[in-house]
Amino acid sequence: MNLSTNYLGLELPHPFMPGASPLVDNIDEVRRLEDAGAAAIVMHSLFEEQLEEEALFEERHMHVHEHSFAEAVTYRPPASDFALEPNQYLDHLHRIKQSVSIPVIASLNGSRTGGWTNYSNLIQKAGADALEINVYFLPAAADDSNDDVEERTLEIVRAVKNEITIPTAVKLSPFFSSLPRFARQLNGLGVEGMILFNRFYQPDIDIEGLEVVPRIELSTSAELLLRIRWLAALHGQVNASLAVSGGVHTPEDAIKAIMAGADAVQVVSALLRHGSGYLRTLIDGTQAWLEEHDYESLQQMQGSMSLQHCPNPEKFERVNYLRTLQLWKS
Ligand SMILES: Cc1cc2nc3c(=O)[nH]c(=O)nc-3n(C[C@H](O)[C@H](O)[C@H](O)COP(=O)(O)O)c2cc1C
Repeated sequence: MNLSTNYLGLELPHPFMPGASPLVDNIDEVRRLEDAGAAAIVMHSLFEEQLEEEALFEERHMHVHEHSFAEAVTYRPPASDFALEPNQYLDHLHRIKQSVSIPVIASLNGSRTGGWTNYSNLIQKAGADALEINVYFLPAAADDSNDDVEERTLEIVRAVKNEITIPTAVKLSPFFSSLPRFARQLNGLGVEGMILFNRFYQPDIDIEGLEVVPRIELSTSAELLLRIRWLAALHGQVNASLAVSGGVHTPEDAIKAIMAGADAVQVVSALLRHGSGYLRTLIDGTQAWLEEHDYESLQQMQGSMSLQHCPNPEKFERVNYLRTLQLWKS
């Protein structure tokens, strides 16, 4: 069975890969993922805040150094919560490249344009085959217009695109007035891929302690449905590759995402829960399903359930909505 796919211009034997997460902070784990069949490795993100902090430190260091080196070293920021500092990130990327033969996709994560985007150039020089750009922010100011919010992401993408020639993929938020229009704009900047979607971690409120409590919970398959809806809408409307991220836990989940239009399938929660070897279960399960259902290749299935050939997608969605509401029986 031919499971091959093209993602970001990379010819891959199948669509499955680990998504950005701490899974690949350890070289042994990276090797285990390759052994389990990963088509590519997506690295944990390097964050704007880390890069800005480092730039600030260097500036302070140079300034104070004129007076006293001993004093300068005490200015070093305390060991942060991040697994890898910027230089370690580049070393780690280099080590991953030496340890495995599959493509390595690095990840930069930020919310505003700034000097940090130049780092994409060092990431390219360190050997990354592609770069994910994760633009994560919550527009909370009432005077930010839709255009202002969208322009923030577009500016970051333009800045990164000016620095590098390797393919880029943007990890998107699901919250847009018109996602297809925004995706087209990204397309116009030459972005090679889009990842649907970022997960918005929702902090809780501790009503006794009157505190906002950050929580991280692994996903379930329920999160997939939002992704497949928008994969189905974007498939055929943009030239970029599409990856699903969020809610893939079984071969059936992956099959739905591919039918909706995914070229790549990124998995994190399921691998954190069952171990890296579970990637092989997903790959083999998908292959078995295709064989049982007499498909000749994965490509034959790709986008087969998208809205590409639906004459009036908006009407189709509206009718589905009305039908859904009638399903409830008391
Ligand atoms: C512990 C953890 C760390 C993560 N770190 C990153 C990150 O550094 N950058 C990023 O873009 N996404 C990060 N993610 C999000 C995942 O890449 C993925 O989008 C999300 O978990 C949804 O996929 P899943 O349902 O397969 O878990 C992280 C997720 C988890 C659980």
